[in-house]
Amino acid sequence: MTASSRSTSPSNPTGLEAGPLAVVVMAAGKGTRMKSRLPKVLHRLAGQPLIGRVIDTATRLGAARIVVVTGHGADEVEGAVRGLAGASVALDFARQEPQLGTGHAVQQAAPRLPDAGTVLVLSGDVPLIGEDTLRALVAASGGERLALLTIELDDPTGYGRVVRDAAGAQVQAIVEHKDATEAQRAIREIYSGVMAAPAAALKRWLGQLRNDNAQVEYYLTDVARIAVDEGTPVVAEVIADEMQVAGVNSPSQLAALERVWQRREAERLMDAGVRLADPARFDLRGELACGQDVEIDVGCIFEGRVELGEGVRIGAHCVIANARIAAGAVIHPFTHIDGGKEGAVVGAGALIGPYARLRPGAQLGAEVHVGNFVEIKNSTLADGAKANHLAYLGDATVGARVNYGAGSITANYDGANKHRTVIGDDVHVGSNCVLVAPITIGAGGTVGGGSTVTKSTEPGALTVARGRQVSFPNWQRPKKAPK
Ligand code: UD1
Ligand code: CA
Repeated sequence: MTASSRSTSPSNPTGLEAGPLAVVVMAAGKGTRMKSRLPKVLHRLAGQPLIGRVIDTATRLGAARIVVVTGHGADEVEGAVRGLAGASVALDFARQEPQLGTGHAVQQAAPRLPDAGTVLVLSGDVPLIGEDTLRALVAASGGERLALLTIELDDPTGYGRVVRDAAGAQVQAIVEHKDATEAQRAIREIYSGVMAAPAAALKRWLGQLRNDNAQVEYYLTDVARIAVDEGTPVVAEVIADEMQVAGVNSPSQLAALERVWQRREAERLMDAGVRLADPARFDLRGELACGQDVEIDVGCIFEGRVELGEGVRIGAHCVIANARIAAGAVIHPFTHIDGGKEGAVVGAGALIGPYARLRPGAQLGAEVHVGNFVEIKNSTLADGAKANHLAYLGDATVGARVNYGAGSITANYDGANKHRTVIGDDVHVGSNCVLVAPITIGAGGTVGGGSTVTKSTEPGALTVARGRQVSFPNWQRPKKAPK
């Protein structure tokens, strides 16, 4: 997060006098340029809906109330947002139909806003706005001023320009690009779309908005001039980090922001010592905690909550979600691990993949080996167990040092219910076996290749459950009759 490069606001590090904080999130716009059926604010950045990030940030700020203004795709947006906000905030919605501008949007929210304290206005499509930045903005408002978040851009085209007095000190107004004179268009300081204001004053100003402008809209930005006219100080909090105020209007902008975000996450991890083969080919869509000397090859995606212990190596093109991988484990290329809600655990020194698949509830002990095209779901493999090729273990408890042969499967589903397979320590299951659950293979036992085992077996027993081999000596194959 970049600190303010220049601030014309009185300093107020605590922001305490600003009173309780209410946040308005504007999210009624259509997002035409996304060319998508999905409402714009529900598109994802690093795995999270754009508006989810904004709501998270508002929540971390300590907002007592968040009012989301919805319009296009309102049902869908409201449904999604309800599932996103924490229990600590009062979440509310205001419908804006039709959409007559940003001022009109905040007017719809006004009846749901308190009269005391501070109102912070955010956009649902500006996902990377920083918590510290907003804290500074709220402090700048200080319960009595209108504080605008602004930034200087090399190309300010399209944005509202921040017009200051002759000395360049006091903010006078925000003039929208379409309404601006040539001279005003030369101003490079723009309004970011984010403001903080005393609640009572904001409500008063909203009542005075008019739509006699180039776009025939109610501009929220007009509150700056109204505040100045009534003698309320207007201050600008100027930041330098463009990404914090970057809006998403098109797939291209979304992808650009995604790359910026990913690059920052990659740098953060590398600063902590993680060795990424290529920070440009790394994607984090959740949280990744790494021990010392972790190596991650190209093209990996991490989702949900993932922990990598000391010395873990992740091969190229792995997708890993909701998993804990203990120290020294090696995940070979093209492995897919998704622990889902239950999570997945890979023990210390385990070797997984290439092309392995670990599903929810896969819990592998130390030094376990899981090879290519092996699928493991809701199963525990004790230390040293091996399933190296083409196998399925579902709803199984597998003992230590078990060797589970190529092509073997647990038949855990009878068409109605799932059943457990228990394989004792040191069991050797041959190739191409079907273990029909519920079943227990006693410790130290052996199951002959090609067996379909339907009854539990005693410890130490050799079990063979297939047609006995029959050979007919000197067998003559049928021959075609001569023409
Ligand atoms: C707005 C500002 C402009 C600023 C720019 C920064 C106004 C009048 N102008 O411009 O000064 O430089 O943001 O990006 O505020 N929305 C609604 N209802 C509406 C209209 C918009 O909810 O009726 C929402 C949009 O979904 C979006 C946000 O408000 O999330 C901003 O709308 P947008 O159209 O992007 O604002 P601009 O006109 O670009
Ligand atoms: Ca915009």
